[in-house]
Amino acid sequence: MGIDLNIHKLTEQFVTESFLNAGRKHEIRHLERTLYWLRRIYPQADDAMLIAAISHDIERAFRTNTISAKEKELGFINVHFYRIHEEQGAEIMAAFLREHNQPGEFITKVYRLISRHEEGGDKEQNILKDADSLSFLENNINYFITNMIEVSGYDAVKEKICWMFDRITTPEARQLALPFYEDAVGELNKIKNSN
Ligand SMILES: [Fe+2]
Repeated sequence: MGIDLNIHKLTEQFVTESFLNAGRKHEIRHLERTLYWLRRIYPQADDAMLIAAISHDIERAFRTNTISAKEKELGFINVHFYRIHEEQGAEIMAAFLREHNQPGEFITKVYRLISRHEEGGDKEQNILKDADSLSFLENNINYFITNMIEVSGYDAVKEKICWMFDRITTPEARQLALPFYEDAVGELNKIKNSN
């Protein structure tokens, strides 16, 4: 059974509405650009990869205080923080796809991709992770630096930005991300030197 093409539209609507309802409109662009970069670095991406790209951070639209506290306590790049982010996001998307009667195999693949999008694993999990890094480095740096240094401190912010670049697996994605990463490091240095 092929996948219902309408599921792309429905997923985009679900993601947009969820972030709007959560008052996190500014996070939608990161997801749209993750989809863009995924297509760019892996034009043969299948439907499961495309759906995972546009929705991989859906947990952030349903975030509870428990996970916010964990993020604060452990920092952004601790597996005990991001594993909850990954797996809750995978659960939310699996439930959504089940509600829309998608094939089991397809749902399992979307789940698998989202549930390891931070650290990667197999080839396709790595490609999603790389697209996520590209989109983060392209779009999220200003917001992250402006808002998160106050909350989490300069070192945690710098560590996360370096980690988002270092974790990139494919040479093509690394090359595309390098100018964004260099700009980010430049911004961090400016802040360090002004203090
Ligand atoms: Fe992301």
